[in-house]
Amino acid sequence: MSSEDMYIHYHGMIVPKETHSSESLTFAQDFAFKDDDVVSATYPKSGTVWMQEILPLVLTGGDLTPIQTIPNWDRAPWLEEKRLALVVDQLTSPRPLVTHLPYHLMPQSFHNSKAKVIYVMRNPKDVMVSSYYFHQMAGFLEDPGTFDEFMDKFLEGRVLFGKWTDHMKSWRCSELGDRIMYITYEELVQDLPAALRRISDFLGRNLSEETIQKIAKHCSFNTMKANQMSNFSLVPKIYMDSDKSPFLRKGVAGDWKNHFTSEQLARFTSVIRKELKGESFSLPWSL
Ligand code: A3P
Repeated sequence: MSSEDMYIHYHGMIVPKETHSSESLTFAQDFAFKDDDVVSATYPKSGTVWMQEILPLVLTGGDLTPIQTIPNWDRAPWLEEKRLALVVDQLTSPRPLVTHLPYHLMPQSFHNSKAKVIYVMRNPKDVMVSSYYFHQMAGFLEDPGTFDEFMDKFLEGRVLFGKWTDHMKSWRCSELGDRIMYITYEELVQDLPAALRRISDFLGRNLSEETIQKIAKHCSFNTMKANQMSNFSLVPKIYMDSDKSPFLRKGVAGDWKNHFTSEQLARFTSVIRKELKGESFSLPWSL
């Protein structure tokens, strides 16, 4: 299949046809946000599915029913994907959602609402590595080619949802004030209970330490990897083949060190630094 058959072009970005359609993208634009909705915004491969575990747990005060009975894509649907229209009526408020859309493509109702956003950032080198393996296992995505070829595509933004730097810039420069919280994938990896406390405080949930520990246990890498409602094992192999690479692959920070040559590191760093030059925010990692 050629890339034209696999992807839709949307505002200069590519998105997979398997999960998106022009109707789903229109549905997202017309979506009526409610004040108590919570959306996690991510560039792909930054911890989206992790947030699909965390948000329902935090919002329900640790009820395991959603994560044990509803697949991740239906319990905290992607705003821009086809599934949302099918499940929107079954979501109970406060509704957990996720999105890969950049800030400027969020619907008008989002801006008019008080819905809160958690933007999860991940070191772009690890994002690229994770994405490289994801392209190998996902039958609905183009073959990534060699690691070196994929790096060029990633740096030029010829990948899902465009350039990592553009995505970061759009959400870091939003005018959302205290409606947005920034957290890194690395913070979640380093101290999950502490990250969960930050998230629950931001969402106005005063969870007991016992509940925080319970949630941390249920959204740990190993528990999620064994949860068929979260590990994509319900998806037929032609779409997602975990024999090629599991979706929950390594779950660590710094795997890029096992993949980048020193030349690739220099190339990657110089492009990202150049594109973020002059921005007022600083990166939470050294590049
Ligand atoms: P790796 O491929 O580096 O393992 P997304 O959901 O945005 O597509 O991101 C997928 C990445 O998040 C994968 O990274 C996956 O393993 C990681 N991830 C998901 N749940 C996790 C968890 N509970 N702990 C650590 N990493 C997790």
